Amino acid sequence: MAEEERRGRTTTEVVSEELQERGKELTQERLDTNARREVLLRVKDLNVTLFTEDGALPAITSLSFEMRKGETLAVVGESGCGKSMTALSIMGLLPTPPAKVTNGSIELSGVDMVKLSNEEMRHYRGNKIGMIFQEPMTSLNPVMTAGKQIREGILVHNPKMSKKEADARALEMIKLVGIPAPEKVFKSYPHELSGGMRQRIMIAMALACQPSLLICDEPTTALDVTIQAQILQLIDRMRDELGTAVMLITHDMGVVSEMADWVLVMYAGHKVEYTLAPELFTNPLHPYSRGLIDSIPSLDNAVDTLYAIPGNVPMLSEMPKGCPFHPRCPFAKDICCKQAPEMLPVDGDENHLVACWKYRKGWGE
Ligand SMILES: Nc1ncnc2c1ncn2[C@@H]1O[C@H](COP(=O)(O)OP(=O)(O)OP(=O)(O)O)[C@@H](O)[C@H]1O
Ligand code: SF4
Ligand SMILES: [Mg+2]
Repeated sequence: MAEEERRGRTTTEVVSEELQERGKELTQERLDTNARREVLLRVKDLNVTLFTEDGALPAITSLSFEMRKGETLAVVGESGCGKSMTALSIMGLLPTPPAKVTNGSIELSGVDMVKLSNEEMRHYRGNKIGMIFQEPMTSLNPVMTAGKQIREGILVHNPKMSKKEADARALEMIKLVGIPAPEKVFKSYPHELSGGMRQRIMIAMALACQPSLLICDEPTTALDVTIQAQILQLIDRMRDELGTAVMLITHDMGVVSEMADWVLVMYAGHKVEYTLAPELFTNPLHPYSRGLIDSIPSLDNAVDTLYAIPGNVPMLSEMPKGCPFHPRCPFAKDICCKQAPEMLPVDGDENHLVACWKYRKGWGE
């Protein structure tokens, strides 16, 4: 497309046009693969409430979604939209008090984890679910060598394994995550390693027990761009080789377009759009999703109008009535301020759900 023609248009328009044909193919490919995969995680009508001095505040409202084995679900939204709260709910690691699951279920392979005791949940964490956080130093023990930390994790979940076997497995994991000089790193303390190496150790720890679900909460935000790409490739390779389902929480829509099968767009603790990644990029329906995509800086300067969504995510104590996005939405009408839209398929497409009145009968009348 001529440079001239591309100017003056939004990122959504440019991306949409460029991906249109390939996007349809990719969507179909992913749907075909999806149909063959077994459902691993089923979150249904999840509500998380924060009990604070200001009263009971809704951190997560009626959140439902599914994840299948070996697929990557990206969870996106601005800061404070409830992405980490969603991850922590699944891990059974909500900061309680003030946060508590007040409704709904989180089923992993058919077991509702909301009903598990702390002891049972500890068994699930690590064994079935692994988590990688933004800052590895917060989850690594500074006075234990990297190899020993991985070994301890393996032994907690495999009490019958000998130390020697666990050491061998730990070393194997260090090699698997692409660390050069693995024997040396095995004996190193976290402070002796670079940020990228520490992140790899955390991934090795998370994967050592071969969890069926790996939750990555902004796993590369603190790293420089080259290391970022390597870590993301590593996560993707693990998904491919071990069949791990990956929940990828990120601010970076570029990463989403590269890695995700499905995308869950969250706004102020609500799910607002849920669809396959190629479909989201070619046909974003919710005005908030469109805003997020239009806010992607374009590398080739093809887009003149780099968009910034006006306003801010509301404070939980000041949640607007009706559609939570209405104070920032250029399309808002009366109904939007009064009644929250339900999450429904658009044009009967069960693989593209959106919570917006714009796509309901009678909107244009
Ligand atoms: N420990 C806590 N106590 C009280 N409120 C909290 C706590 N943790 C998070 N919140 C609130 O819960 C809401 C959701 O926060 P959450 O951390 O899930 O956002 P996020 O989408 O992960 O944001 P970010 O992109 O900045 O990580 C926010 O309004 C936040 O202020
Ligand atoms: S429901 Fe209304 S306010 Fe909310 S996103 Fe849709 S058009 Fe905008
Ligand atoms: Mg977060």
